[in-house]
Amino acid sequence: MASISKAVIPAAGLGTRFLPATKAMPKEMLPVVDKPAIQYVVEEAVAAGLTDVLMVTGRNKTALENHFDRVAELEYTLEAKGDLAKLKRVNESTDLADIHYVRQGDPKGLGHAVLRARMHVGHEPFAVLLGDDLIDARDPLLSRMIEEQQKRNATIVALLEVDPDSIHLYGAAAVEATDEEDVVRITGLVEKPAKEHAPSNLAIIGRYVLKPEVFDVLEQTEPGKGGEIQLTDALQVLAADEASGGVYGVVFRGRRYDTGDKIDYIKAIVQLACEREDLGPELRPWLRSFVGTIDE
Ligand code: G1P
Repeated sequence: MASISKAVIPAAGLGTRFLPATKAMPKEMLPVVDKPAIQYVVEEAVAAGLTDVLMVTGRNKTALENHFDRVAELEYTLEAKGDLAKLKRVNESTDLADIHYVRQGDPKGLGHAVLRARMHVGHEPFAVLLGDDLIDARDPLLSRMIEEQQKRNATIVALLEVDPDSIHLYGAAAVEATDEEDVVRITGLVEKPAKEHAPSNLAIIGRYVLKPEVFDVLEQTEPGKGGEIQLTDALQVLAADEASGGVYGVVFRGRRYDTGDKIDYIKAIVQLACEREDLGPELRPWLRSFVGTIDE
């Protein structure tokens, strides 16, 4: 079976929830502590063995490209100053992966963004990582999904149990158990259902390991929720198609940080900074005393 070496990262969203910060900069470049969100996602792909990364970009892609490219003047200055620690930080994103870019053109939805990867991906299975979800490096999810993909030759999505009151923000899955405790077979998928129509409270989080068959299905997928071509709708077709190997979910029980809206983004930064060796010791006691000063 074809092994997996490519990751696709859709990065063409307008980031309107973060205006004006995203007026001239893609939301993927917003810093989470001291690294742009997108760098965590590329690091995650690389940690799972995927060093060929395709970013599907939109407007303002320059900042993204620059971030993963050399910046000779800065390197030279830091080297001349002997600041090797900072030089290392600068070079980390440059040396991380082999990064390619394609433009989405019309922003017609996640399914459309994934379809733009067709030429680059070819006939191999591949991973899709969405930048709004950060997965803690200590709780590897993607490598577990890749392992299941290779074993079952199926499409794999990451699922997370969410509060039923938030299921309308996600793709929701109808599932049945398998012989593995953390894997379910998906029998149906609905994009962003109302709470009362959700098949379960298992939500798709932004990690997928897809088979190239998904491209043919996406070509045929009509605009769905929000008038956009939804990846969830294409996966629903594959879930009903035994011949494609079906769709399975790996249920994630590790640490995930949502950076998709302002409040979750702030929480993610506080959580990650509290755990950092260089920042945590000063931040944690400050946070405790600060909390004491807050009125409900
Ligand atoms: C997308 C998908 C949705 C999925 C979510 C995960 O929605 O369409 O099925 O649950 O990502 O983050 P978005 O959050 O881009 O609206």
